[in-house]
Amino acid sequence: MNNAAAILDIMNGFRRSKILFAAVKLGVFDALAQHQPRGLAVHELVTALPNQEFQTSDGLSRLLRSCVSLQLLNVDKQNRYSMTPQSGQFLVSSSRQSLAGYINHSNDMLYPLWQNLESSVQTGSTCWTESFGYLEGADSKKAFEHIYHGADGPKRFMLAMDAVVNNSAPQILDMVRLTWVNGVLDIGGGTGRLSSWICDAHPQCSRAIVLDLPNIVDLATEMRAIAPINEKVEYQKGDFKQAIPKIENDINAIVLSRILHDWDDETCLDLLQRIHQTLVAAPIQPAGVIICDMLFDDNAKISPVETNLQDCNMLVQTGGRERSKDEMKQLLEKSGFQQISVYQTGTLLDVVVAFCSI
Ligand SMILES: C[S@@+](CC[C@H](N)C(=O)[O-])C[C@H]1O[C@@H](n2cnc3c(N)ncnc32)[C@H](O)[C@@H]1O
Repeated sequence: MNNAAAILDIMNGFRRSKILFAAVKLGVFDALAQHQPRGLAVHELVTALPNQEFQTSDGLSRLLRSCVSLQLLNVDKQNRYSMTPQSGQFLVSSSRQSLAGYINHSNDMLYPLWQNLESSVQTGSTCWTESFGYLEGADSKKAFEHIYHGADGPKRFMLAMDAVVNNSAPQILDMVRLTWVNGVLDIGGGTGRLSSWICDAHPQCSRAIVLDLPNIVDLATEMRAIAPINEKVEYQKGDFKQAIPKIENDINAIVLSRILHDWDDETCLDLLQRIHQTLVAAPIQPAGVIICDMLFDDNAKISPVETNLQDCNMLVQTGGRERSKDEMKQLLEKSGFQQISVYQTGTLLDVVVAFCSI
């Protein structure tokens, strides 16, 4: 690839993304998945797409051909479009490994936010007001008010979070030794999806308490009926900035999955120090924290590129940041943690485990 081609490839990245986003949003993959292996011609797909109106099929034909060129769909000699194995696995909403929720969040929230990256670069803050016009204020403390704005906001975000967990948890649980975990407090645990994976993989883990904001706990309880969660998972309404519940009985692990990256160092230190005090008082030892976030390889923060993309994503969305392995270790050491292990998992979630005492 010559230099211009490399730059053009980066420049056109948003076009590729948007083709994927539009096809997922219009329900193309969900509809085609119902008609495997024969597939559908464009005129058939037009009627198979629920709640969509098309004045012409020309636009849809172009979108489908683009999907074929991006290897997201196949097309046969009769011009019938069908799924690839990869699209069946990752782009159909009902698949366990579906990324559709994350793609819809990317389309509806992240794509408009990223249009104002320049503004965030200049202010060092989120750009919700510039991007959506509602809820004044770039204060990162308001990030979740922005994210959960509107009737669809909370569910869209939870489906996005779950998509990432479902695609990362199997590798994480293969790689990270959690045999010491007797019970989990999952702070900001959303639907409890990660806790559910931990309980599924570790029968010795007798319970998981998911702490989240009241509206998210109500939603998680509703969502559980549709996408089952391990029965050992319970929910508790609360605000981790106000108080961390006292842990009792068999809980000896606190999970912080994609929490620290939402906040500045000061907030993270305050939270980690309070978690350390809580774990020191846990009846069962060893007791430790399990952190899931994307990590930079080193303090130069040039690689991996995915962590840089997520770091800018935190800039526009929450006012938080991704951290290097060293930065994460320093936060933990300053909070009193020891025996710190870092696992770069190759998934969208790296893991750091640290214990409150030796
Ligand atoms: C980026 S999401 C991560 C969700 C989940 N841990 C995961 O990895 O899928 C951050 C979570 O923190 C929750 N949260 C934000 N502020 C909170 C607070 N002050 N108290 C409790 N939960 C909070 C959000 O509602 C959301 O579920």
